[in-house]
Amino acid sequence: MIFGAILAGGVGTRMGNSEKPKQYMLVGGKPIIAYTVEAFSCCSKIDITIVLCPNDWVAYTNDLLTSNGIDMNKVVVTAGGTMRNDTIMNAVNYIEEHYELNDDTVILTHDAVRPFVTERIIEDNINTVMKYGACDTVIAATDTIVESTNGKVITNIPDRAYLYQGQTPQSFKAKAFKELYSSLTEQEKEVLTDAAKVFVLKGQAVNLVRGETYNIKITYPSDLQLAESLLGDN
Ligand code: CTP
Repeated sequence: MIFGAILAGGVGTRMGNSEKPKQYMLVGGKPIIAYTVEAFSCCSKIDITIVLCPNDWVAYTNDLLTSNGIDMNKVVVTAGGTMRNDTIMNAVNYIEEHYELNDDTVILTHDAVRPFVTERIIEDNINTVMKYGACDTVIAATDTIVESTNGKVITNIPDRAYLYQGQTPQSFKAKAFKELYSSLTEQEKEVLTDAAKVFVLKGQAVNLVRGETYNIKITYPSDLQLAESLLGDN
């Protein structure tokens, strides 16, 4: 089976002191999370979309998605975890408890705060993860990336031709993620905030899927304005 996991378990600290986590804020009069869930629930190849939000927001999220016209027959809402990867693990555990976790179980993990994901990106993720086992959505780096290990002087300027910016979805075989993540120490788990990095550090290949520059992650208040203008462009 193919599952979507919409990661909405964060509180949006960098968005500032809003009364609700940023995924519930409005863009174009509609909650950000409603755009994101709709993109997955409308994809016929995805069997179930699991939405993972803060524990206190589960009932609210169910009501919000229903009132925004989401077909809840293929969507479930459950609690996320403390760290982003814990939220992914909750999705994998949910699959194991309610469906079946086998070698063919595929999961597309996607940030709830990337509402501009397209059908093409989702389908490319499905095709690539089915063929190769793991993939990450990226765009080529346009700025030169400068590394500084102490925040004062440059320690390295890697060749931009080999650099990409990571987006989501990040997709993989759910059972493989569970096995790899469970093998990490608590210290490694704290450092490994990116799901694709778990595979890379364990020596597993992660294929690239082409993202889009407009597949932005809404992080700061200025991103809300950018999102409004992107909606206007569509
Ligand atoms: N996320 C999650 N579970 C967590 C932490 C984050 O599902 N424990 C989700 C967020 O809800 C978001 C996505 O991961 O959709 C990307 O994370 P980020 O932009 O860092 O979101 P927040 O953690 O909410 O933001 P901040 O770091 O500013 O607090």
